Amino acid sequence: MNKVQDIRRVRTEQEKADAFAVRQQVFVVEQNVPPSLEIDEHDRAGASAIHFVAYRDDKPVGASRLRFYDPQTGKVERVAVMESERGTGLGRELMLAMEQTAREEGLTQLKLNAQCHAQRFYEKLGYQPVGDVFEEAGIDHISMVKKLQD
Ligand code: COA
Repeated sequence: MNKVQDIRRVRTEQEKADAFAVRQQVFVVEQNVPPSLEIDEHDRAGASAIHFVAYRDDKPVGASRLRFYDPQTGKVERVAVMESERGTGLGRELMLAMEQTAREEGLTQLKLNAQCHAQRFYEKLGYQPVGDVFEEAGIDHISMVKKLQD
């Protein structure tokens, strides 16, 4: 399996632009999510969400966002891997990087709204479905949760 070497918590404007470029390609171009829904208030400068970006050979190939939901709970959002990179373990590495950061931030559980086609991906990482399927941006979703171990 190809292991991506370089997954970063976003700290610079360039890294943030790179993360947004991946999201734009995956969600807006590939999945037809309206740009007005893809970028939201949690992406603004000064918002508390933590962004992640993954590079292979200096090219941005993955992105995600961790949002503070309540004092114990983080919300995993916008998990995106470029089509050409899928199946290499990058999505899992991004999730593990977010979980590590969440622990460091004192969070004890993570929640997310999974696109139903990706439910198995999250289940393999220990997330459990809760509630019923619902539609968001024209795509079926299911909520999932995971308790973080120390
Ligand atoms: N269905 C079933 N299993 C899947 C899966 C899917 N759609 N995607 C990944 N998996 C499995 C892999 O087979 C692998 O299993 P293994 O541990 O037994 O080898 C494991 O999950 C990890 O896969 P990985 O290679 O790390 O996943 P990825 O890099 O392809 O990323 C997504 C997965 C979902 C992030 C990626 O497909 C993607 O960006 N899709 C488009 C955007 C999207 O839908 N994001 C999710 C929003 S909720």
